[in-house]
Amino acid sequence: MTVTEALNKRSSIRAYLPKPVPKEILMEIFEAAQRTPSWANTQPWEVFVAAGAALGRIKDAAASGGGPGPGGYGGGTDLPMPAQWSEDAKRRTATIGASMQRDCGDAMGQFGPLNAGMYNAPAVIYLCVDKAHGQWSLYDIGAYSQSVMLAAVERGLGTIPAIMLVTRPDVIRKELNIPDNLNIALGIAIGYPDPDNKINNLHTERDDVTTAVRFGE
Ligand SMILES: Cc1cc2nc3c(=O)[nH]c(=O)nc-3n(C[C@H](O)[C@H](O)[C@H](O)COP(=O)(O)O)c2cc1C
Repeated sequence: MTVTEALNKRSSIRAYLPKPVPKEILMEIFEAAQRTPSWANTQPWEVFVAAGAALGRIKDAAASGGGPGPGGYGGGTDLPMPAQWSEDAKRRTATIGASMQRDCGDAMGQFGPLNAGMYNAPAVIYLCVDKAHGQWSLYDIGAYSQSVMLAAVERGLGTIPAIMLVTRPDVIRKELNIPDNLNIALGIAIGYPDPDNKINNLHTERDDVTTAVRFGE
């Protein structure tokens, strides 16, 4: 599989088979992702993996106290939510509904419940970053995320980076012994995609590359 093939094959997977991901495979993925670039080689990603009973307790807490509520995300996230989206960002987000109708049919109705239940994922990778670091470290965390997700594709695994995985930072912190100096930036669910759930067929749109990229010559 070429890198371009992996880029095209990756999409967010929202339904997983109840099959654990062997630790050795997760470690292969993390080893590959260690090559991610970072400012001054700071490697600011602090990685915690939730699985088994600990993940079960995080899921229970998210289902009871997390998720979008009137004031935003029920349990709150360590990182502040965006103040607002730009008009262009709103236009792009608005395409998701039609894509879902086209690709997922009836399975569309599962979007909310699967989000609330953390996609029944067998494992969640939590990416944390030191509170002392400024916003630049989030650039490195984002790059690391994509490294993890592409290395997962190469191994037949699905992933989804999701805010819905970090709505109970209090519980995640306790279950995974995450020290107070770290912010929980994002969670990436990982596992074997359920091939029978059409929610996984969602292929989201992108702006045409000729309008997305501008050259100055
Ligand atoms: C920071 C971040 C947060 C996200 N949060 C959620 C989420 O809470 N629920 C969800 O269903 N998808 C979430 N996603 C997945 C995006 O909806 C998805 O990446 C986007 O629509 C593009 O689709 P694709 O990943 O299938 O290419 C998130 C993605 C990112 C990068």
